[in-house]
Amino acid sequence: MPSPSQSEAVPAAPVHYARRGRVGVITVDNPPVNALGHGVRSGLAAALAAGLDDADADMLLLVCAGRGFMAGADIREFGKPSAPPTLPELVARFDAATKPVIAVLHGSALGGGLELALACHVRVALTGARLGLPEVKLGLLPGAGGTQRLPRLVGAAKALDLILSGEPVGAEEALALGLVDAVEERGSPLEAGLRAAGRLAAENRSPLPVSARTDRLAETDAALFIERRAELARRLPHLVSPHRIVDAVEAAVTLPFANGIARERALFQDCMDSPQRAGLIHAFFAEREVAKVPGLPAGTPARDIREAGVVGAGTMGGGIAMCFANAGIPVTLLDLSQEALDRGIATIRTAYEASAGKGRLTLAQVGERMALIRPALSHDSLADADLVVEAVFESLEVKQAVFRKLDSVCKPGAILATNSSTLDVDAIAAATGRPQDVLGLHFFSPATIMRLLEVVRGAQTSDTVLATAMALARRIGKVGVAVGVCDGFVGNRILRQRGREAMALVEAGASPEQVDRVLTGFGFPLGHFAMTDLAGIDVGWRIREERRKAGDPEAEAPDWLDVLAERGRYGQKTGAGVYRYEPGSRKPLPDPELAALIAADRSRRGIAPRPVGDDEVRDRCLYVMVNEAAKILEEGIAARPVDIDAIWLHGYGFPSWRGGLLFWAEREGLGRIAAAVQRYQRDIGGPQWCPSALLLKCAAAGRPIGC
Ligand code: CAA
Repeated sequence: MPSPSQSEAVPAAPVHYARRGRVGVITVDNPPVNALGHGVRSGLAAALAAGLDDADADMLLLVCAGRGFMAGADIREFGKPSAPPTLPELVARFDAATKPVIAVLHGSALGGGLELALACHVRVALTGARLGLPEVKLGLLPGAGGTQRLPRLVGAAKALDLILSGEPVGAEEALALGLVDAVEERGSPLEAGLRAAGRLAAENRSPLPVSARTDRLAETDAALFIERRAELARRLPHLVSPHRIVDAVEAAVTLPFANGIARERALFQDCMDSPQRAGLIHAFFAEREVAKVPGLPAGTPARDIREAGVVGAGTMGGGIAMCFANAGIPVTLLDLSQEALDRGIATIRTAYEASAGKGRLTLAQVGERMALIRPALSHDSLADADLVVEAVFESLEVKQAVFRKLDSVCKPGAILATNSSTLDVDAIAAATGRPQDVLGLHFFSPATIMRLLEVVRGAQTSDTVLATAMALARRIGKVGVAVGVCDGFVGNRILRQRGREAMALVEAGASPEQVDRVLTGFGFPLGHFAMTDLAGIDVGWRIREERRKAGDPEAEAPDWLDVLAERGRYGQKTGAGVYRYEPGSRKPLPDPELAALIAADRSRRGIAPRPVGDDEVRDRCLYVMVNEAAKILEEGIAARPVDIDAIWLHGYGFPSWRGGLLFWAEREGLGRIAAAVQRYQRDIGGPQWCPSALLLKCAAAGRPIGC
């Protein structure tokens, strides 16, 4: 590349080199997130060479255009051969640069982007920048020197905290840690960088590359790695990459830099080759893919939601109101009695204060959020709301009455949403004169924590209303997934079948603890029965009672779970359910009384228990879910397998390293699953084992489900 003059810029899109005074400026401009794909890597290599050759440049500046610095390697290239220069090669060239290089970090500086900055001689962050190494979330470790350079800057213990959590830190914290050399409060990245270059020139010194520093390594506590390994073995036994991360950071402390880099490379390759990497990257893209709803034209205008309303100040309604307040949206919380309202507001305040107690919120933020939640007793208070979510008792008549009332008080164009988890959204919409403005917004409990939001599109819901709900989901930090109307929508419909099977396995001879152990062994954070205890046995019991009363042919016959509910054993909230709980503890403890109850239930039904193997538990619990998921696709209730994957990942704790229910099913083998479903239909029977035609068809054709 020729040496440019002051006014010329040599375009090497997506990377440019130009000179400002005696500073050579390398600019990366690769929207949306300046990912380090092949074009950027080769552009950076060329621009660096140009800068080093430029006799009029005393030092170099690395800046990015757009909303952030580089967000890391281009994840879409993973799994394919990496064209040179690879990221580690590029990083090594910056490390070996014969002129000082200053990196200016703004917005997100993540993964390989931060690793490149670590190989620069000086790092400057703009206020508001977020710096992190999130590779662990993708089943990887920082593979471009990050595990070797970060400990040299911030110490091994802090480096492990940052790399194992994958969470970014802000500019001020980065400065306090020694991760950056200065924080700039004003100006563009270029302006901030030029100021830093001026300071460096004035100091007239040549900063050492990070790879040459060892001072912070010397302070490493000998017990550090032993402790972290023990903690990981306890907390994350399933995951590959966190354990490799500890090995890599240990290598930074025990080996010379070049050997540490070689060790990092080998460990990185282990992670890259692991199926967990593929699963986690599928989960990353699934979260983004679901935002693009098939059939909803990109650019469909969304309505502005400036004010929200929630009807019902119970646990769910209060949680939903908090979701709006957390996103800065004023919300009117309505209930019919002062007592219910007071209780709801008090619960919200307690929850916020608990967050403040844990240091997650300041007291000022608690005050701000509480001020955004306006309690109300009259529906008229909802007249200005742009969107109202109803979260009242799960009864069609009650909800229809609420919607009639909302229709009469809410302004034209206001969106009316139901949080129902089972009822027919179309029947609710029919109670209004604006069915095009009605849809389901199915939040999951606890609403402030669970990221899933099923956006239920009714027969008449308009495109604008759907687009508004999807945009709102993102704004309040949820993963919105558009689904169609059916009993239980997508998530709970699949859960119901797993529940049936879990009960059938116990009936056959398994214990609830065995079922839960197999599911947690698979990677679910909670087993089926522990989750039932958490959600409350009474919830399912009431739904089953309703179904039995309504004569639903698929209604489950009364069983030992119903007996528990009749005895007031609702789960965690009553200190006993399927398991027992010590006061104040959430740890499920086996209960001999339950074993006796189950034994009595079996003998009442004339069932002689048999030993049930763990493999049978696993296959039946999971294959029944896949079969139901395939039926959901067949019926068009979910548009794509990725929608079902995202629903189970974000609403039900499906292990993210397995990618999602249907991503996992492909790897398990659709042929194997289809054959098992047919066998279970023959041997066990029941509607849950009626095979999905789509599953059988895809298995027979050897093609992925949904294609
Ligand atoms: N590679 C490729 N595409 C990426 C990407 C990446 N690293 N990061 C984001 N994108 C894409 C997204 O898929 C999305 O694409 P679509 O618009 O087509 O859906 C687009 O960029 C915008 O992303 P978001 O919707 O997530 O935008 P946001 O503003 O909400 O968040 C972000 C921006 C914080 C950077 C977020 O995208 C993010 O966290 N990205 C991942 C960062 C990451 O994990 N980096 C590490 C990569 S691994 C690595 O670098 C390891 C190594 O050593 C080799």
